[in-house]
Amino acid sequence: MSRIAYVNGRYLPYAKAAVHAEDRGFQFADAVYEVIAVNEGRLVDAEGHMARLERSLDELRILRPMSRAALVMVLTETVLRNRIHTGSVYLQVSRGAARREFPFPAGVRPTVVAIARPLDMAKSDANAAKGVAVITRPDIRWSRCDIKTVGLLPAALAKQAAKEAGAYEAWLVDRDGFVTEGSSSNAWILTADNVLVTRPISNAILGGITRNAVMELVRREGLRFEERPFTVAEALAAREAFVTSTTSFVMPVTSVDGKPVGNGGPGVVAARLRSIYEAHAASHGRGQPDWQAVFAAP
Ligand code: PDD
Repeated sequence: MSRIAYVNGRYLPYAKAAVHAEDRGFQFADAVYEVIAVNEGRLVDAEGHMARLERSLDELRILRPMSRAALVMVLTETVLRNRIHTGSVYLQVSRGAARREFPFPAGVRPTVVAIARPLDMAKSDANAAKGVAVITRPDIRWSRCDIKTVGLLPAALAKQAAKEAGAYEAWLVDRDGFVTEGSSSNAWILTADNVLVTRPISNAILGGITRNAVMELVRREGLRFEERPFTVAEALAAREAFVTSTTSFVMPVTSVDGKPVGNGGPGVVAARLRSIYEAHAASHGRGQPDWQAVFAAP
């Protein structure tokens, strides 16, 4: 399948899709991004992703490159041109290209890139059916993890460590021993007394769109739920654990650092949440919270 990527107003063959050598995304990680799920060729929770993108841009004072509606059109067109049925679309906006100087350059236009790719649902479902392993790593990231920047080296190092350990994800642990989140996902447990726990939104974690969607489903299901930090020891004593993200949906976690969680198999609550989340994705995220309020700047 020939792939097409969007770069600064043009839809280009993948091999020709390039940005300038002095792009600030490349030199300073001066760029933000979103990964949006695609279901039946349509974007899932587009409003939430756009609200979070605008918040990331505003926090860094990167110009909004176009209206929300125009961006959604670009993303949808990229998905269509690549004939993606189930997959994701990656959107990156950098401050732009300019001679290398640390302060913001004047008069540059943001660089916009969109790339769509299919997702192997069978593989994801197979992982979910048996559950996945996570390892833990110290959280060595900066103190604005709420902004979705492309400064992902700590996340890449943690994910590589997970890969080398045969694990699916690395949970990042703060100095006080609490799990912040996964390298590219949010972390959850179900305690022995059946309370779902995930860390509250702060500068220490990314406010996941999937996290928010699952929280809404948890409320609707009437499940007991608490937003508070949890430790690795608590996760090991938990009944269930799972991660949420755009590309993992709800993924049951069955071991942490080689030690089993619960009975060592995927949990029933995680499986139930995965299935209702899939129904949510199939509806493309209708009936979601007020995303503008969810991602209001602090
Ligand atoms: N990552 N936390 C971090 C650090 C993340 O990078 C992500 C997403 C999440 C989950 O957010 P969401 O539910 O909005 O996908 C949490 C994306 C998928 C990525 O970098 O590929």
